[in-house]
Amino acid sequence: MSYLGIDLGTSGLRALLMGDDGAPIGSAERPCGVSNPRSGWSEQDPAEWIEALEGAVAELAANHLELAGLKGIGVAGHMHGATLLDDADQVIRPCILWNDTRSHEEAAGLDAMEGVRDISGNIVFPGFTAPKLEWVRRNEPENFDRVAKVLLPAAYMNLYLTGEHVTDMSDAAGTAWLDVGERDWSNRLLDASHMRRDQMPRLVEGCAQAGQLRTDLVRKWGIEGGVAVAGGAGDNAAAACGIGARAEGDGFLSLGTSGVLLAARDGYAPVPESALHTFCHALPGLWYQMGVMLSATDNLNWLAKIAGVSPAELTSGLGDEPAAPGRVRFLPYLSGERTPHNDAAIRGSFTGLGTDTGRDELTRAVLEGVAFGLRDSHEALKSAGGHIDRLIAIGGGTRSDYWLRVIANTLDVTVELPAGGEFGAALGAARLGRMATTGESPEDVVKSPEIGLTFEPDANLVPAFDEAYDRFRAAYPAIRGIQ
Ligand code: XUL
Repeated sequence: MSYLGIDLGTSGLRALLMGDDGAPIGSAERPCGVSNPRSGWSEQDPAEWIEALEGAVAELAANHLELAGLKGIGVAGHMHGATLLDDADQVIRPCILWNDTRSHEEAAGLDAMEGVRDISGNIVFPGFTAPKLEWVRRNEPENFDRVAKVLLPAAYMNLYLTGEHVTDMSDAAGTAWLDVGERDWSNRLLDASHMRRDQMPRLVEGCAQAGQLRTDLVRKWGIEGGVAVAGGAGDNAAAACGIGARAEGDGFLSLGTSGVLLAARDGYAPVPESALHTFCHALPGLWYQMGVMLSATDNLNWLAKIAGVSPAELTSGLGDEPAAPGRVRFLPYLSGERTPHNDAAIRGSFTGLGTDTGRDELTRAVLEGVAFGLRDSHEALKSAGGHIDRLIAIGGGTRSDYWLRVIANTLDVTVELPAGGEFGAALGAARLGRMATTGESPEDVVKSPEIGLTFEPDANLVPAFDEAYDRFRAAYPAIRGIQ
């Protein structure tokens, strides 16, 4: 028996085959392109997702006989994207992605409507799905009139796999059409952006069955029996399933292009004004909260490019043990910010530069600036009554021990680094596929990886990091005023 986890990321698709013992058997990847027809626009052709999926599955079939024993599939997708389908399920226009900011005015308009934040539990951010449809209505009425269904990227993959329009709660929560507390579409929110319930896919929990793999795909992929397809998940909820973040107190920190601090929650406790995202988990009866920074490793990559060295060379000059933060501050807003400022227009900034400031001081300030941005999300999470007892770090930025130590000091939380192997969204998706097939409980399937390194906060340095964080907080309004 085997299970397939598909992680449809913004830059590529990853398919992971998992054995009955929960261990990975093999994986295959295919790139996906993003087009930027105008500044701030970001689109993808859903046909590319299908081509990537077919290519990756063909590679797995060629290399792993275990694919023939496939029993369950789960799909994780980048969140918020609007895939518009006509009444013959044909794609009307390219999918508008999560990092497309064209609908900022529509987002602000919806966000200001009475009751919208109360029902959705979130600010309506420009990246969310509802404002994208409002933009299409205003700017492409001929396309808007043809919309029979709106599917998130993972739900479009579910449609290809099963022939049914189904999405899971975790992904649906990022549309601004879901009553996130009730786990159901909201007529009030749908009305607000001129949408109807019949244009929405059916809702299931991420680990429940969405349908069965189409018989023509069963034959084409050389599979022996029937295959269940799970509801799946948005990529962050799937990553939480991969890392074992299920119960209150479990969390993870993702240091990728963007930065995410996520905490699993037993109950629904939204604090939209903090710009914290409150979404359904892919597991029944659970939610999660996360703060999203639009640039994390992107800040370091930017400085490395200017300095003409690799990010690793840049950080190697700092040694292993952080010192107390210096005078130089960096505001890590190269692409604007979601949590806590919800400010698409703000840009980054250095302050406190002197004639003695060199490359190492700038590098330290950048690493500290991202850590302070994550602390903003941590503070927002605490204001919602959440707490993180275990913070597991994932993503490319975790290659720097120095950075993880800075984050441990800034958040005053122990940061854990997995020993290696699989623990991402593709594994989480495969686990959802497994639960949809076997009916096993999340407690039995969603487990934490083996930890390789642990970074404890340094009690001697925590007060200095606290003080520098206070100055970081004060810098935003001042910088905002002069940009
Ligand atoms: C979450 C978000 C991103 C996307 C892309 O709100 O916009 O994390 O899911 O991965």
